[in-house]
Amino acid sequence: MKYFDYENVLSPRNLKLPLDLKRLFGGLPKVALEIGFGNGEYTVKWAAANPDTLLIGLEVSFASVTRCARRIADIELSNLKILCADARFMMKELFADETLDRVMMNFPCPWPKTRHAKRRVTAKAFADSLAAVLKIGGVFELVTDEGWYAKEALQALSRHKTFPSAAIEEGFSRPVTTKYERKWLEMGKDIFRLTAVKEKKFTVRRETWGFDWGERDMPLHMKTGKPAPKEEELAFLLGASGARGDARWVFKEHYVAGGDGKKFLVKTVSIDDEFEQRYYLQVTERGDNALVKPDDTAKIFLTPSVRLAVEDLTRRLAEVVP
Ligand SMILES: C[S@@+](CC[C@H](N)C(=O)[O-])C[C@H]1O[C@@H](n2cnc3c(N)ncnc32)[C@H](O)[C@@H]1O
Repeated sequence: MKYFDYENVLSPRNLKLPLDLKRLFGGLPKVALEIGFGNGEYTVKWAAANPDTLLIGLEVSFASVTRCARRIADIELSNLKILCADARFMMKELFADETLDRVMMNFPCPWPKTRHAKRRVTAKAFADSLAAVLKIGGVFELVTDEGWYAKEALQALSRHKTFPSAAIEEGFSRPVTTKYERKWLEMGKDIFRLTAVKEKKFTVRRETWGFDWGERDMPLHMKTGKPAPKEEELAFLLGASGARGDARWVFKEHYVAGGDGKKFLVKTVSIDDEFEQRYYLQVTERGDNALVKPDDTAKIFLTPSVRLAVEDLTRRLAEVVP
């Protein structure tokens, strides 16, 4: 079973962004987000302990989402939904301004190397997204065993006008804990909790909704205006790539999908600001026209890089047919 086939997992393809939480999940009074839930042990316990809150878990690793989905498959927890995506790009795309009462991060990967600093939650872009999606009075809680990381995150948030009173505590206790937290506490290791309350309104630009797309407002189905190229004419696609702004995409192998050679799939990798998605674009011959669109099996968010990949493939296919 694939991770998105589990009932509590939100499959990206049919999700309209930003999420309409009331329509999708009913009227629970509060909404919380946990970023990087790992195996989901904390997530499940936290959701069970807070039945008045809808908890959404966001995790970048497919393997972790699958593990957590299995963990919750047999439990009656209607207030927990999980999904697979990179929080750095997708948190602001999933949630409208002033949507979340709480955002939690437990033991995030610290990314100690300088070249990976952009991946830390201490990066300014993360503070901006957080400042947008939290409600006024909403709380960000980060728990880590890395003192330097907690301090760096504190600096980033304190510099932000929406979080003037962010602070770090040690020696705190909380009702739900993670496995490593319990282990480290038993070993007498220091654990740090950074808490920040949103005090002022803030907004950020969204890449998939919420502004005039201009030239990027293109449909996800595009016609080349020419018949589909023959299979042997497609070798040029392998490794062809494009970029615009923070969006990049590359075409990989192609496969003939229909017995008559009139349908083929192009493996595609799309990246929006480091958020990578892998999927197939489908090319189908329709009379004198070839139609390009994400394959129906593609479980992806329709981000700018996906739209631009559709447009780019359509153009390249049109050019190769005389
Ligand atoms: C060190 S583990 C901690 C897991 C869990 N929170 C715990 O305390 O046991 C960090 C987790 O964050 C996830 N992660 C890292 N970067 C992420 C991102 N940008 N968006 C969502 N999840 C992320 C990783 O896949 C990993 O599962």
